[in-house]
Amino acid sequence: MSKNNNNDISVEGLTFLDDGEVLFNDLYLLSETDEKGILTYASDSFFKVANMTEEDLIGQPHNIVRHPDMPRTAFKSLWNDVQSKGFWTGYVKNSRKGGGYYWVYATVLRSIDKSGNTKYVSIRVKPSREDIQKAIELYATLD
Ligand SMILES: Cc1cc2nc3c(=O)[nH]c(=O)nc-3n(C[C@H](O)[C@H](O)[C@H](O)COP(=O)(O)O)c2cc1C
Repeated sequence: MSKNNNNDISVEGLTFLDDGEVLFNDLYLLSETDEKGILTYASDSFFKVANMTEEDLIGQPHNIVRHPDMPRTAFKSLWNDVQSKGFWTGYVKNSRKGGGYYWVYATVLRSIDKSGNTKYVSIRVKPSREDIQKAIELYATLD
């Protein structure tokens, strides 16, 4: 554990800011769902940043990590785009179990598994401060 000049606490590659935001060092956070958005897989980095276990997440709808600040229109466009074009990219603010939140830049892709079933994969990376600020401003204007 370490503290910087702002009193932010860092532990296991996570930095906890005063207002509840959590920053992560991981290169990416991965999750997969079935056609209905039920979680079938998550990377260790996703479990860690979400502060959730396999029991908490796998088999649950992906909105289990939804943050109330996220506009409904963002997820409408996510589902519309992955179903029609096969991909969506965008900024997402997620809730962390036990309090706190984190921002990601997500790329969601449609994929077909060996049995011919549709699944969806999300690869999330850390957005820049400027991009987070732009997303906050944009999402404040959306429903
Ligand atoms: C592969 C994939 C990853 C998703 N990741 C997230 C996520 O990290 N956070 C989130 O709030 N919704 C995520 N969603 C969207 C949710 O399925 C859901 O649409 C959203 O949380 C809004 O909830 P609602 O559809 O019940 O209104 C993801 C969907 C897919 C297909």
